[in-house]
Amino acid sequence: MIVDVLTIFPEMFEGPMSTSMIGLARERGLLEFRTHDLRDWTSDRHRTTDDSPYGGGPGMVMKPEPLGRAIEAIQDLDDEHAHTVFLTPSGRRFDQSTAEELSAHDRVLFVCGRYEGFDARTLSLADEELSIGDYVLTGGELAAMVVTDAVARLLPGVLGHEDSAVDESFSTGLLEYPQYTRPAVWQDIEVPEVLRNGDHAKIEAWRRRKAVELTLARRPDLLEHAELTSEENAWIEREKDHADSQPEED
Ligand code: ADE
Repeated sequence: MIVDVLTIFPEMFEGPMSTSMIGLARERGLLEFRTHDLRDWTSDRHRTTDDSPYGGGPGMVMKPEPLGRAIEAIQDLDDEHAHTVFLTPSGRRFDQSTAEELSAHDRVLFVCGRYEGFDARTLSLADEELSIGDYVLTGGELAAMVVTDAVARLLPGVLGHEDSAVDESFSTGLLEYPQYTRPAVWQDIEVPEVLRNGDHAKIEAWRRRKAVELTLARRPDLLEHAELTSEENAWIEREKDHADSQPEED
């Protein structure tokens, strides 16, 4: 997969995109990652990328001309169309299923906004607009890195263990079950007996139940879309009834 990023701060990407799994994925040729400095497509002496908003108001807006020229040029780098994603807090909320969708593209171009945002006319150049959450960052760069990280780890061969991405939080629609490693006792807390007995069917059942329990406790909204057995649904209903019948704590 080829990931291009258009930004006025290419240096922000150097450390995070060269370290750990992403760095390895690049070394192994599974991910090609390129940054492009938006200032290279400006035409004035000061290499200006922003201007004040029509109609007044605080902050600055990304100028459309350099952005348009840059996107066209980057699109033309390879034969394939780069699926073009603008990072903005007004975009669709990024989640694991969006990461899966993006990982199916051969090329993705992330366009990072700064200042108060993009000139609205340039949004037509985007195939989609994504937000990484309901908060406002100083720019799209950190968001582009978050999305690249979540997408790159889904590419075949990037994770050491191919099953790692199958069981984990969100891919099953549930939060991940608790994990333990040696020692068997730490600060007087024992690793659950079932995990030490080598009975794989029992381990599976225990993990599944823990995943459902944790999701019910922390992210009940996820249960609406999770694939649950009728037994699990019945158990959840009983748990909810039980919680409703408990007196409220102050
Ligand atoms: N740019 C600024 N805030 C952002 C957010 N939450 N997601 C994506 N891009 C952004």
